[in-house]
Amino acid sequence: MFVKRVGMLALLSVLLINNGMAKDGMWIPYLISQLNEGEMQDMGMQLSAEDIYSVNHSSLKDAIVHFNGGCTAQLISAKGLLLTNHHCGYSQIQSHSSVEKDYLKNGFWAMNGKEELRNKKLTAAIVKYMKDVTNEVLEGVNSQMSPEERAASVAANIKKLIAANQDEYKLEVKPFFFGNQYILIAKEVFRDVRLVGAPPSSIGKYGSDTDNWVWPRHTGDFSIFRVYANAQNKPADVSDDNVPYTPNQFLKVNIGGVQNGDFTMVYGFPGTTDEYLPSNEVQNIMEVYDPMRIAIRDEIIAVLDKKMRTDDATRIKYASKYARVSNAWKKWSGEIVGLRATRALEKKQAFEAEFEKAILADPKLSAQYQSVLPNLKNMYEDRKEILTERHAFVEGLYFGVEMFRNMLSYRTLVEAYESSDSTFEEMAANKAKALSGFYKNYDSELDEKVMEKLLPIYLSYINHQPLPDIIDKLKKGTSEEVSLYVKEVFSTMALSNSEDWINLLQNKPSKAIKILKNSAAYNFSTAAFNHFVEVINPEYRSYMGLIENSQREYLKALQAVLPNKRFYPDANSTLRVSYGKVDGYQARDAVNYFSHTYLEGVVAKYKPADYEFDLPQKLIDLYETKDYGPYAEKGKMPVCFIASNHTTGGNSGSPVLNAKGELIGLNFDRTWEGTMSDYNFDEKRCRNIMVDLRYVLFIVDKFAGAGYLVNEMELVSDRATLVEEKAPALEMAQ
Ligand code: ARG
Ligand code: GLU
Repeated sequence: MFVKRVGMLALLSVLLINNGMAKDGMWIPYLISQLNEGEMQDMGMQLSAEDIYSVNHSSLKDAIVHFNGGCTAQLISAKGLLLTNHHCGYSQIQSHSSVEKDYLKNGFWAMNGKEELRNKKLTAAIVKYMKDVTNEVLEGVNSQMSPEERAASVAANIKKLIAANQDEYKLEVKPFFFGNQYILIAKEVFRDVRLVGAPPSSIGKYGSDTDNWVWPRHTGDFSIFRVYANAQNKPADVSDDNVPYTPNQFLKVNIGGVQNGDFTMVYGFPGTTDEYLPSNEVQNIMEVYDPMRIAIRDEIIAVLDKKMRTDDATRIKYASKYARVSNAWKKWSGEIVGLRATRALEKKQAFEAEFEKAILADPKLSAQYQSVLPNLKNMYEDRKEILTERHAFVEGLYFGVEMFRNMLSYRTLVEAYESSDSTFEEMAANKAKALSGFYKNYDSELDEKVMEKLLPIYLSYINHQPLPDIIDKLKKGTSEEVSLYVKEVFSTMALSNSEDWINLLQNKPSKAIKILKNSAAYNFSTAAFNHFVEVINPEYRSYMGLIENSQREYLKALQAVLPNKRFYPDANSTLRVSYGKVDGYQARDAVNYFSHTYLEGVVAKYKPADYEFDLPQKLIDLYETKDYGPYAEKGKMPVCFIASNHTTGGNSGSPVLNAKGELIGLNFDRTWEGTMSDYNFDEKRCRNIMVDLRYVLFIVDKFAGAGYLVNEMELVSDRATLVEEKAPALEMAQ
């Protein structure tokens, strides 16, 4: 029996860790000493786990920053200098831009502290400590509880716990492994974070949507901020009295370069992954959810693209909307390709068969866990219908049709009117003011075309009773009738002429409300939204609770059946470490990618005046004269590189560190063929994409002339000298 079990476990481990070598995982920093240190050192790391995370003395963790709760950033000088992606600082850069001072287009560089730009509501959070609080959080919780009862007990315990631990830091408690474990995280949150520098979009967003998710990549996706603190070096509101923050630790920058096979480590705040889904849900993603969401966005993209290509004004208005629509759309299609290519489904199925066999072979395990996986699979199957409808609503109306969200934004105003709220007129005036922002980037003709494409798709999926009359009627109608209805919606929107509408709302609000309430636009939007809120979402949420319970049991079972395997929790926007090595990959048959790109490649993609591939003349000049300072490698200017670190959204702006913990890259994307790493990491094809730090320094120093910032940093190099090497002849065919 014993022997048999061990044999089974060995087999399982092989299946689980993908031929024994995959270094997947986003690891909890304080557990690295137990789980990963040895392996990381075997891969070349010269640090100890204590250097990475320590609560007793300063460690690399003190330099890692959660940037505004979404992206990651890192401290790179003793004076609070903070590095993140251009796309992470985008809205701050945009908020300081105007037609006269177009920082998005031309870049921005503060040449001294006084020129740095202050931001409203921008935070930089540093983790002070993390501790396991599972026992406290699960006190009084038992497996008989319904998901709602459990959630209520957990929430009450967390509240108590936070009140009892209150100190100077911001505390949060997060579930790991679907609530098998809870960790308390204390963060110091800085509130005065100023913009120091950003390259022009033609560098920071070079390649834009065409190159997004794609390797080879040539984007200098970085921006620079500075964290400010009060005289005691503590967080404070934005103020003249603040001074640059002195970090406990900041990252040294290594400009010695990286080679294939070098150890790399990513330290940051990955957002969400789903590594422990059962095979049938992976199949649903591949065959149902991703394809339907892609199909909906195909329609949006086709409509937008057509007009954006022929009309400059539309292109400018819709650039950022288009980027948002196309980002996930492109990722999903890569996900399907990657899941197929790595036979993810077959792998999961084979693993599950072995897992079930191992459980059956052991009476104790079977008594406890026999029904766990079948239950989990059933939950996902049962949820399928409602999740499909939910996607149809969210993608097909809520995010797809701009008119829809705009109409919903009037709901509180209409309520105020109906309840004779005394603040109604003021609310209407405020709404009128806010609307100019909406119209600035809105084209109702385009939106109407989108709705004409999306409404039939939405209707084809929506079934859950009771259906609002209008939706029922449209579902039964012919396609001509649906099309006519879209025309009616847009003709009654009262908004096509935005100025008239804003005037009306400001000057005769009660008349405006009457028009609104009688419009097909408002009525359709409220009907579909109410159906979502009252019918679709409650059912969806009840499944979420049940699935959470089942996944929790499944993880417990996995750990019991495979006691020797290391498990990492799914990403949940908490601090994690991933590690891998610099490496190219085979994208498909006969297509092999190198691990580095160079300025040659940037220039080769140059298309003058193109909105994605234009370049600043100064960069071209620097390229022509090979004026690279100490940042070149054998006369060539490195730009981006890839490595096999397991990352996801939220890792944008994460530092990529070498074996000594020195900064070598700035993470900003993944390769298209490997975006399925959120469900199934595969070392052979999953790569994260980084800007080479030498390109960052070159742009700051040589392009922007802000070398004073480089002087603030601590540069190190593995090479004997930093003397500029002579440029060799161009290797690349132009
Ligand atoms: N793909 C990256 C991410 O998921 C970059 C997105 C921003 N860039 C863009 N071209 N849309 O966030
Ligand atoms: N661009 C992503 C972000 O904003 C990172 C890419 C990824 O999903 O790995 O976080």
